[in-house]
Amino acid sequence: MKLWAGRFQKEVDSKVNDFNSSIAFDCVLYEQDIKGSLAHATMLGETGIIDPAESAAIVAGLQGILADIRSGALAFDPEAEDIHMFIEAELTSRIGDAGKRLHTARSRNDQVALDIRMYLMEKTAEIIGLVKQLAYTVCEKAEQNLETVMPGYTHLQRAQPVTFAHHLMAYAEMLLRDISRLEACAARMNELPLGSGALATTTYPIDRDRVCALLGFARVTQNSLDGVSDRDFCLELASCLSILMVHLSRLSEEIILWCSWEFKFIELDDAYATGSSIMPQKKNPDIAELVRGKAARTIGDMTTLFGMMKGLPLAYNKDMQEDKEAVFDAVNTAILCVSTFTPMLATMKVLPENMRRAAAKGFINATDCADYLVKKGLPFRDAYKAVGGLVAKCIEAGQTLETLPIAEYRQVCALFDEDVYAAISLDACVRERKVTGGPAPETVAAHIRQVRARLADEADIGKKGG
Ligand code: ARG
Repeated sequence: MKLWAGRFQKEVDSKVNDFNSSIAFDCVLYEQDIKGSLAHATMLGETGIIDPAESAAIVAGLQGILADIRSGALAFDPEAEDIHMFIEAELTSRIGDAGKRLHTARSRNDQVALDIRMYLMEKTAEIIGLVKQLAYTVCEKAEQNLETVMPGYTHLQRAQPVTFAHHLMAYAEMLLRDISRLEACAARMNELPLGSGALATTTYPIDRDRVCALLGFARVTQNSLDGVSDRDFCLELASCLSILMVHLSRLSEEIILWCSWEFKFIELDDAYATGSSIMPQKKNPDIAELVRGKAARTIGDMTTLFGMMKGLPLAYNKDMQEDKEAVFDAVNTAILCVSTFTPMLATMKVLPENMRRAAAKGFINATDCADYLVKKGLPFRDAYKAVGGLVAKCIEAGQTLETLPIAEYRQVCALFDEDVYAAISLDACVRERKVTGGPAPETVAAHIRQVRARLADEADIGKKGG
């Protein structure tokens, strides 16, 4: 029998019951649901809205239910409409009539809004921690490769020399932005919606600030219609996670390229690669490929949430039950991907000789060669044209700028001297780019120090409310 059976003359159709039920996926909210109810019942007792003795019985009953779910002694009833109904029904069956008073001055609408906020704040804090670990791992790998020269690319064509450290630290910046986005999202999520009631609060003299303090929220929501129907925090979190996953996906794509025989810049650890069922020579970057694939899934979750919300009138609508599977999936996917990605990155072997070899063949010092002439007084456009001629000469003669004899250089421009070879050496090209943001080893080393300091500094905004 449903808790709301009073108005109805018939049992609900069993297919409708299954269709309507959310306990299969909202059961993960049991901790938050019980903690929220504990705070609500405590406040009801303290304010005298219910008898303090009954409040105490509710608290004891809920604590017993929590312990039993945690230990596995109490299983979720798949026939229950949702986790909220399940726990309330269980409470009443355990403590009798006092259990029926728990829902005084409360609706499932503010209850579910509370539970998801609490759950997502905890998960956001967990994801922030994981992203920080990944960012530290990126810094560590970068530190070991400050002098590892590799080609930098535009259009996937060799462009100018950088170092592997410089390349990796681009991702450290992305991850720092991910962390700050997630922290801002958690900070906005940190509001107590309980007390909004079904949509219009209540006539009971509830103490929202007391519940807020008991649950550790930063503040209470200021409009009850918004309190029950706001899911911005789900849209925002899924958006933050989509951006994070796009970053992981781009690095995955690079890792996939780098461990191909065409590049061979890195070798994945055997524990983080897989073989083929038919081709004995294969070592496949499945983890990176799956992360790249799962980024699509997160973007799908985000799209589901936006689509679900865009046409809803205020306040609560049942459509909003669809928020859970999407946002939970986005959260679980991010946790799974980041925690698998970090050790894969930590254990991957860098092959500096191969990176340097690739950097040496593609005329990636041509800009530096032109700059050499500019430093001798030639306007940049003329220098650019002269070096273009040199590159054409090299290609025809099967040479590179490093191997082309000085006599050939002089035929193109008389300003060239023997010192051109030092000026266009890959190490010089990298060493001289010490502008803030550049690849010079000392510049990147300073950047790594700065990123580590920022990671250590970041306040854990997301921890509140659990
Ligand atoms: N299971 C519901 C959800 O996830 C709980 C809120 C139900 N409220 C209601 N008025 N039916 O959204």
